[in-house]
Amino acid sequence: MIIFKKVNDIASFLNQQKQKNNTIGFVPTMGALHEGHLSLIKKSKQNKHLTVCSIFVNPTQFNDATDFEKYPSKHEEDILLLSRVDCDVLFLPVAAEIYPSGTTLEISYPLGEMENLLEGKFRPGHFQGVCQVVDRLLSIVTPHTLYMGQKDFQQCMVVEKLLQYKYNHVELAVCPTERTTSKLAMSSRNIRLSSKGMVTATAIIQGMEHAKQTLLTLPLRTIEAELTASLLASGFSKVDYVSIADANTLLPLEKWENDSKGVVLVAAFLEGVRLIDNLLL
Ligand code: PAJ
Repeated sequence: MIIFKKVNDIASFLNQQKQKNNTIGFVPTMGALHEGHLSLIKKSKQNKHLTVCSIFVNPTQFNDATDFEKYPSKHEEDILLLSRVDCDVLFLPVAAEIYPSGTTLEISYPLGEMENLLEGKFRPGHFQGVCQVVDRLLSIVTPHTLYMGQKDFQQCMVVEKLLQYKYNHVELAVCPTERTTSKLAMSSRNIRLSSKGMVTATAIIQGMEHAKQTLLTLPLRTIEAELTASLLASGFSKVDYVSIADANTLLPLEKWENDSKGVVLVAAFLEGVRLIDNLLL
């Protein structure tokens, strides 16, 4: 695996690779890698792409300064994990490489309602920050295919909007959520949970699976309220949202119909850690 720290160096290397007719698969991350991230690299490799992973903890997408400061950083372990799955290139820039003229957002990405819903509502500015960094990374890496995880369902929808807006030749491949044996969605933030917390955290997926089974028998708002109450009873300190939504718009579904395409999305705090997960219905 080749590691680049400078924009000019990776850009000229990838240019040469494109001239040799290699296609590029890109997996942007913030590091502290786990099997979820590695599944994206593996998918890109299976598709025979020259596979580029980036690790950059993007300051502009954190609306909570403590979350940014506490974000885990494990470069040595990450490099080992990436080599094991045969990742071809790691891009590991410092902030001055990504934001040479500072972090002030120069444009506003047209995200529509998506920006005011769910994560957008509870993390103001978060998706503008995500678009800012993904835009910059795409302009450097110029991939054919971008690999992202369904774990961040709304982020995938936002990035799809960015691609339609500026990069309509780039394909987005959304990959399934990798889970632990107890079905907890893998997340870099799980490191901050105690072993008891790791067990408690499985209440999210259990609650979502239970919700899926009751769709035809209970009003959707009742299902959401029951799931919220069960998380609080399990030990979660705060629930930002539980939403049974239209999987195409993320607006709340009014009623479950046989042809509904829905998703249940959850964001809740446990031991000071904000966890998110979702399940297609
Ligand atoms: P990060 O949280 O590091 O996630 C990087 C990618 O890994 C995202 O596409 C995310 O959806 C995916 N991912 C995380 N957990 C996963 C899991 N359990 N199963 C499958 N995929 C999973 O998301 C970000 O970083 C940042 O917002 C980023 C896009 C890099 C922009 O800064």
